[in-house]
Amino acid sequence: MVLKLLVTGGAGFIGSHIVEQLIANQHQVVVLDDLSTGDRNNLPNDVRLVIQDVAANLDDLFAAERFDAVIHHAAQVSVPHSIEDPIRDLHVNLQGMLSVLEACRKHQVGKVVFASSAAVYGTPQTLPIPEDHPLTPLSPYGITKKSAEEYLRIYHELHGIRYTILRYGNVYGPRQSVKGESGVIAIFTDARCKGRIPTIFGDGYDTRDYVYVEDVARANLLALTQGDGEILNISTETAVNLRELFATLDDVLNEHEQPRFGPPRPGDIQHSTLQNDKAAQVLGWKPQTVFYEGLKQTVKWVKQHG
Ligand SMILES: NC(=O)c1ccc[n+]([C@@H]2O[C@H](COP(=O)([O-])OP(=O)(O)OC[C@H]3O[C@@H](n4cnc5c(N)ncnc54)[C@H](O)[C@@H]3O)[C@@H](O)[C@H]2O)c1
Repeated sequence: MVLKLLVTGGAGFIGSHIVEQLIANQHQVVVLDDLSTGDRNNLPNDVRLVIQDVAANLDDLFAAERFDAVIHHAAQVSVPHSIEDPIRDLHVNLQGMLSVLEACRKHQVGKVVFASSAAVYGTPQTLPIPEDHPLTPLSPYGITKKSAEEYLRIYHELHGIRYTILRYGNVYGPRQSVKGESGVIAIFTDARCKGRIPTIFGDGYDTRDYVYVEDVARANLLALTQGDGEILNISTETAVNLRELFATLDDVLNEHEQPRFGPPRPGDIQHSTLQNDKAAQVLGWKPQTVFYEGLKQTVKWVKQHG
């Protein structure tokens, strides 16, 4: 079935991969993005791009386009920025969520798929983290993601809008900006491709759950027609430490460099992996891209785009 879809944040890193897959599946797509971190060049020329703040009134757009569903990715995405300027984080991430939900309510949009984050969990009490782990965010960003999830639940109960919440691990791949402090793979890849040795903060044994962007995009497409009312981790359930990341980049680049180390950064969580069997049961989703292959694609893109 062909759907008419709005992708907020669709000119960004993850959103643009979703747009690409939606178009490949013959869906009709409109992108809303203020281009604060996104880029028009991430999108095919013929996609309609509405350049607007997601937190503004969306009535005119929704009245004109009559969307079947919204894939909501527009956000202030930086944890450090959310600490420096929590009011901006609140505006984009929570008022933005509410303005999407209000437009959905007024214009009878059936479903919202929402990009949430492992940041809602805070310090893990168990690993890998299951979806029913306590939510104790450590930053304003984690709080606005957690609250946005709550608004989705309430809008379903009050107004019948269906939703699926996807909580991502550390997403990586082509088009990720080096400006986002959380994109360690983007930062390491960019540095290595420019002949620089990136600094590993701490002893290099901190682990993360790196999930490839095309796998994340595929989860969004599956969630359009499945997983109503569900909260699902989107992850590989595999812990990769920074030394392994550095060494795999060595393999991809066919180089043999020694990492450089710096002091650990306060506030960094040591280990994070997310359980992903619920996404397999509910969506039939599993990550398909092995780490080496994902890094290879990322390096290829960085080399092409500088
Ligand atoms: N990258 C990750 O590892 C990761 C992990 C967990 C969750 N997420 C979530 O996934 C979503 C996409 O993140 P990304 O990594 O692609 O980052 P990104 O910065 O590339 O994408 C965010 C997009 O939203 C747009 N945007 C920002 N503020 C806006 C506003 N006020 N109005 C309209 N558009 C606005 C930006 O221009 C950008 O195109 C975000 O909601 C983010 O919180 C990302």
